[in-house]
Amino acid sequence: MERVIWNGVPWFDRDGNVVNAHGACIVREGDVYYLFGEYKTNDENRYNGFSCYSTRDFEDWKFEGMALSAEAGGLLGPGRIGERVKVVKSAVTGKYVMLMHTDDLNYSDPCIGVAVCDTINGSYTFAGPLLYKGEKVRKWDMGTFVDEDGTAYLLTHEGNIYRLNAECTEAEELVAENIAPGGESPAMCRYGGKYYIMFSQKTSWERNDNYYLTADNIAGPWVMKGLFCPEGSLTYNTQCSYIFDCQTAEGSIKMYLGDRWSYPRQASAATLVMLPLAFEGGNMRISRYMQAWRPADGSEWREPCIRPLAFCSDVKGEGRQAEFCVSGGRVYLFGAASDEGGYCRVEIRNSEGRAVNEAVIDFYSAVPMKGLRYVSPELKSGEYTLCVTALGESGEWFQKDGTRFGSKGRRVDIYGFAAELDSIEKDC
Ligand code: GAL
Repeated sequence: MERVIWNGVPWFDRDGNVVNAHGACIVREGDVYYLFGEYKTNDENRYNGFSCYSTRDFEDWKFEGMALSAEAGGLLGPGRIGERVKVVKSAVTGKYVMLMHTDDLNYSDPCIGVAVCDTINGSYTFAGPLLYKGEKVRKWDMGTFVDEDGTAYLLTHEGNIYRLNAECTEAEELVAENIAPGGESPAMCRYGGKYYIMFSQKTSWERNDNYYLTADNIAGPWVMKGLFCPEGSLTYNTQCSYIFDCQTAEGSIKMYLGDRWSYPRQASAATLVMLPLAFEGGNMRISRYMQAWRPADGSEWREPCIRPLAFCSDVKGEGRQAEFCVSGGRVYLFGAASDEGGYCRVEIRNSEGRAVNEAVIDFYSAVPMKGLRYVSPELKSGEYTLCVTALGESGEWFQKDGTRFGSKGRRVDIYGFAAELDSIEKDC
């Protein structure tokens, strides 16, 4: 069966748990892709470990376990931040090296940290701060890039690029400095001999129009190229996190990986977005948003026939249900996200009334977005009930200067659903 990447909806692993990996990276090893990300909580921002999942197709996710858990003390101890985990493989030692942003809860003690493991999906050992000329690298948002010759680089906010040593455990040379003042969450790739680096702007968990620069040499000069998504789309409502090579039937493509944050319910409701990057004449872009698509051939998933299911509420506990049958397939929920959106709980109950899947869905988006809000895992043939309940809550967060971001309301706005076979709509 042709596998689909479901953008902006929770993904579930083989155990039915939501894939909890944010500010992530994807590293390929043979036919397997490993996703490493922040293992978020639903109520606060502290470091809660870095997770590892594996997949061959971006739809079937296996939880490999925690790649790095909370430390008893130190840079990743209690009351610390751990973000933007990235993994590179040292070409000389063959070991896997994990780099991450460590900090205190006020983001006033940034420091890049290092952890090492002999196997990609093993348990990493925290080694301490990454040093450059014997000093800590006091940067927060960071990324990594591995060049075609195997040399690995650390990328930081504001646009510093450090070449790592051959073991990837130290920064050896500052090859470019301050190329993107105000830039965060750097991600980089090389295409057709040119280097491309992208950044977000600084709006905390809120999305903004991300931009990119190019250079013929990694040391620069770096040329500002502007946006790679349509202006005002807020990078299709994502923040860039990583670029990786993805094998498709037509060869290797550069894949964009971005975050659609959902503070405070990041563990349940923050989602990932993957879209192919297109290159032409030294420019890079994501030409269009696809809510779901097949990486095998790049084709967009076509929405099935949608059955009306109207529900709009901001009142905690209000809900709507629909009964449906599937013959071994999924159920899809469609709705409208806006700057007044809030959270709802979705539950799929089997004919005995037992919940076989549940999720928390965020209807907040600074730019309005209609479409898929929930996709169930594949369900065994049978009769089910889809239950949607408004939580009467929404996401909000504050920047260091006190600026408030997030929703103006708590609205859940659903317009339809679709199941693989037959379905009967029913009121609560
Ligand atoms: C973002 C950054 C995230 C996280 C967040 C905290 O700008 O990219 O990684 O640090 O701020 O507000």
